[in-house]
Amino acid sequence: MTHTKTYSVTKHIPSAPLPKTAGAFLWHFTKRHGKAFGTITFLMMFWSANEALYPYFIKMFIDAIVNYTGEDTIPWDVLKTPFWAVVISFVVMEIAMRIMGIFMLYTLPKFRADMRMQVLQYVKGHSLSYFTSNFAGTIATRIHDIPRSADTLMENLLDHVFSIIMAFIFSSIILYFVSPLFTAMMIVWCVFHMGVTFYFMPELRQKSKTHANAVSRMQGDTVDCISNMTVVRLFAKGSQELKRLVRSQNNEIEKSIIAGWAYQKVNMLRGVGGIAFIVGVIFVLVKGYQENWVSVGDFPLVAMTIFTILSLIWHLSMNMQALFKDLGTISAGLALLNTPHEVNDLPEAKALSVTQGAIDIKDLQFSYRKTIPLFKDLSLSIKSGESVGLVGFSGSGKTTFVNLLLRFFEAQKGSIMIDGQEITHVTQDSLRSNIAMIPQDPSLFHRSLMDNIRYGKEGASDEDVIKASKLAHCHDFIKDLEDGYETLVGERGLKLSGGQRQRIAIARAILKNAPILVLDEATSALDSVTEKYIQESLQEIMKGRTTIVIAHRLSTLSSVDRIVVFDNGKILEQGSQEDLLRNKDSAFSQLWALQNEGFLPDKRA
Ligand SMILES: Nc1ncnc2c1ncn2[C@@H]1O[C@H](COP(=O)(O)OP(=O)(O)OP(=O)(O)O)[C@@H](O)[C@H]1O
Ligand SMILES: [Mg+2]
Repeated sequence: MTHTKTYSVTKHIPSAPLPKTAGAFLWHFTKRHGKAFGTITFLMMFWSANEALYPYFIKMFIDAIVNYTGEDTIPWDVLKTPFWAVVISFVVMEIAMRIMGIFMLYTLPKFRADMRMQVLQYVKGHSLSYFTSNFAGTIATRIHDIPRSADTLMENLLDHVFSIIMAFIFSSIILYFVSPLFTAMMIVWCVFHMGVTFYFMPELRQKSKTHANAVSRMQGDTVDCISNMTVVRLFAKGSQELKRLVRSQNNEIEKSIIAGWAYQKVNMLRGVGGIAFIVGVIFVLVKGYQENWVSVGDFPLVAMTIFTILSLIWHLSMNMQALFKDLGTISAGLALLNTPHEVNDLPEAKALSVTQGAIDIKDLQFSYRKTIPLFKDLSLSIKSGESVGLVGFSGSGKTTFVNLLLRFFEAQKGSIMIDGQEITHVTQDSLRSNIAMIPQDPSLFHRSLMDNIRYGKEGASDEDVIKASKLAHCHDFIKDLEDGYETLVGERGLKLSGGQRQRIAIARAILKNAPILVLDEATSALDSVTEKYIQESLQEIMKGRTTIVIAHRLSTLSSVDRIVVFDNGKILEQGSQEDLLRNKDSAFSQLWALQNEGFLPDKRA
């Protein structure tokens, strides 16, 4: 492995909330690199001064030549002052620019990284519902859009906006000495030009933001389609998917043209202002020359300064447009990423300490949607070390129940206590590190199998990983893979079969070795023989641990202490398997009878 240097911005990543508006956000990060940006700004002034002085040097040459009344050839003494002025000015400017370039080179990547890391830090604090209701592609794009736009914006601001404003000020001063009239004309024109720019700024920003939204919408749609390629193939819906993408593409074109037109309108207005200004200045210049208050040298000085300023200010407003575009992109990104966190640790939250693993749920109320509650006054106590099986039809709320236990979602009412500690009063990390969960649809990282299993316990040795794999009965198929434990498993683990993925998830949970174990259909994708072996391993692991087992295959639950039957978010009945089966009228007995060789049918008969 190659050694990567660690930079200060990645050493400690603050997790404070981010400023809400794009301006405040940028200012926050600019301040964090204030010294460097301050130095860059200072060095930039040398360029501005040189730009303003250049026409003055030409005037010095011309005045020296015109005023010389001696012999035919002009002596060096007459020309040396303007000559050295030009040389020194350019050399100083060049040195300042190179030093500035070096400062930029070190500052901008850190500025970007600081922003990206803090945004990532914030985004990872969102709840699971945030990630299920937004496209992964859109979130990822926005996370990278923000620093990229901020980078071009800063470069623009320093390289073009700030430097041009300074050049403008220096030029105004120089022109003032020729005649305040020129300075006044230049200021009037500039006020008009920038007035137009700022007047239309909100409209331009709004339209750019709409366009940025259309772009990321299209990216999100593309990612959604690409990541569901199997389904697309399976239903032979390639052309329909393309049609969907064409719709968002058309929307993007439309929004781009609307934004483009807004810019064109502004440019036309500014164009008219520019022509009026040039004609006015040339007129006054000619008049002044006729009336003898403009010297031969003043003529090129004023003309050059005016043309330079004209092109610089145009440049400035063009860059302002790019700047607003970038601001729009940052705002759009913040609007998606910088929403308040849905599930928060209390400021005084302590770490959960699990000694017994007793779970106490009282009067729990929860709904995904405002209207119909899924759980209404649900209460359930699970004793220390007890194993509880949850059964019920699909959609009855089993997974939601364990998601609430893990505090992936916030319950609207009621309490969930673990060993007498309210889960809303402890840190989320400590809560989840005490629960090993094997989810219904486990997903793996596109990393090696070794890394995927080791995810259960940071720093676990290879031997520990292999031991857990053996218990989860995945060691045999892993060692037969071409690269063994070093095999990469594809995005979300798609290069493995469903049952193989489940066994990796089981190995991961075994390695985690948490006092509370939750199995959500953990063995549903396995054949009966493999399942039997794994059940034996799981029995071992469940010993002494509080366990919740969700299963459709009722035979899986033969050894649990208690079975709880869920229906529409309510607990219908509970008891040991024998007790429930003894009562022929119990819902469980009916489920048992309905199930075909231990499987629950999809729907109630
Ligand atoms: N993220 C979500 N947002 C909105 N509704 C959801 C969400 N997840 C689940 N639901 C709804 O909540 C209800 C309970 O779902 P849940 O996943 O808890 O059922 P389940 O008992 O685990 O079903 P299965 O046996 O199929 O896994 C369902 O009606 C489902 O549509
Ligand atoms: Mg479920």
